[in-house]
Amino acid sequence: MELFGKVALITGSARGIGKAIALELANHGAKIVINDILPKNEIDKTLEEIRKSGDQAIGIRADITIFKEVESMVKEIINKFGKIDILVNNAGIIRDSLLIRMKEEDWDTVININLKGTFNCSKTVAKYMLRQKSGGKIVNISSVIGLVGNIGQANYAASKAGIIGLTKSIAKELALRNINVNAIAPGFIETDMTKRLSEKVIKDLQQQIPLKRLGTVKDIAKVVYFLVSDNANYITGQVINVDGGMVM
Ligand code: NAI
Repeated sequence: MELFGKVALITGSARGIGKAIALELANHGAKIVINDILPKNEIDKTLEEIRKSGDQAIGIRADITIFKEVESMVKEIINKFGKIDILVNNAGIIRDSLLIRMKEEDWDTVININLKGTFNCSKTVAKYMLRQKSGGKIVNISSVIGLVGNIGQANYAASKAGIIGLTKSIAKELALRNINVNAIAPGFIETDMTKRLSEKVIKDLQQQIPLKRLGTVKDIAKVVYFLVSDNANYITGQVINVDGGMVM
């Protein structure tokens, strides 16, 4: 129960990796805020699961690209729990296509959600963390694609590389106040997205991964837990690849 009494906001956590992170932090005693843009009933379903393993949990439907919505979400968290200790910037999307076919709208949407959303939430939450004077932990979910690039993912790779620059800059700004900021770069993770790939594509992918398997959502959630726990108090501004050794 290392996180007992801590309040954690996880963006985009109604499903996928975000949901696994929320469950993991709830299992270690944190009070959980599920944020997503999905319909309320989807958020409520996840909340039910979280409440089985955790202390307290609430759901807030908000679009992280809209600064005012982020501000009112964080105010609601402070009203409910009195503070915020942990922020996991997880919400993210892909809109893949080759550069010359990429629509301006697909560029803007991916940068807005993945990068600006991370900025909006970090800025708003950091303000409260600084006022609280009790430190804090921010973990940003980047991607190995942000490190090595990928055909058809110029927008996604740029957004995830941007998250790494943002992480290092705000880690330097906030370090004096004991707020640690780190990023995780997942490789290929088994989610709804990868379930749709053919057996052959999965086999080819596995060949490129030294540990010879795709990652699980739990593989990511456990590293997030480590980074938000006291075990990682002396780690800040780092990018941790969780990718089975794909990128070394
Ligand atoms: P997912 O699509 O299952 O979950 C993302 C969640 O973010 C969804 O519930 C979605 O509704 C929410 N979301 C989207 N736009 C939002 C907005 N404007 N405001 C609030 N919530 C919003 O995706 P998955 O696979 O769980 O990915 C989570 C994170 O991990 C993303 O940042 C993704 O880029 C990253 N990642 C995923 C990998 C994978 O293999 N699945 C690999 C590397 C990184």
